[in-house]
Amino acid sequence: MNDRTIGPVLINGDEFAPAEATVSIFDIGFQRGYGCFEAMRTYNGCVFRLGHHLDRLEQSAGNLRIGLPPREELEAWGVRVGGGGDGVLRMYVTGGPDPQHLGTDNVVIVYLEPVPDVPSSVRLDLIDAPWHADGRMSELTGAKTLSYGPNLAATLGAKSRGYDDAALVGQDDVVLEGPTFSLGWVTDGVLYTPSLETSILASITRQATIETAALLGIATEIGRFRSERLLEADEVFVMSTVKEVLPVTAVGEVAYAPGPVTQRLRKGFLALVEVECP
Ligand SMILES: Cc1ncc(COP(=O)(O)O)c(C=O)c1O
Repeated sequence: MNDRTIGPVLINGDEFAPAEATVSIFDIGFQRGYGCFEAMRTYNGCVFRLGHHLDRLEQSAGNLRIGLPPREELEAWGVRVGGGGDGVLRMYVTGGPDPQHLGTDNVVIVYLEPVPDVPSSVRLDLIDAPWHADGRMSELTGAKTLSYGPNLAATLGAKSRGYDDAALVGQDDVVLEGPTFSLGWVTDGVLYTPSLETSILASITRQATIETAALLGIATEIGRFRSERLLEADEVFVMSTVKEVLPVTAVGEVAYAPGPVTQRLRKGFLALVEVECP
């Protein structure tokens, strides 16, 4: 094994040691970023919301016209690999090596990665994302594809300017999401988060946080919001499988203290995890 995985790697259900787990250089997942993936958190060997992640993977593969193994098989692989403890369960589906028959001979790769160090808060650079679908529909609307180049470049660009990551803004100055996380903020005790109609990823953590807010009696408004609404907020936070619910202490030049509502949502989210993954 190496320090990138906990346990073996499954490729189409067969176990490989990480160093032996390989994909063809002709696979269009590698050559063109044609494929899809999921990242799920495991807590004590339980995959949090495995069913929701597999729903999203099926939607992604459907959008890309990539065939998937039967759902029960994917589920069994997720449970088998995810049983390895606390980690990030990665499930990748490539488009296969045959450019004449895209989406056939695809490869499903599943492995568990150690949970990375997550900081206690993040500082975000507010940037334009002209590449984001931003409300426009396409073949790939709702898909979590392997084409993450623009997202990674946005993160690296923000880091080069002294931030931890980026907050993406679309045309008409509408707040979207981060390159690998969703955004939420609190103004006068109300939780605001961009709607899925802005073509943001249907984040499973965002959905769980909205449910948490309802349980805690925190009013939620979901919609299209201009960046001034974010900048005027009392508290800002990010949501993702890896980051869970994490306070934001700066968006561009504007500073925020990690606030009480974010803290309640974070605790509430972790309580929900404990109920579903006891
Ligand atoms: C673009 C984008 N938005 C939001 C998220 C958060 O989604 P989830 O909560 O399902 O991890 C991700 C996760 O990788 C993402 O890539």
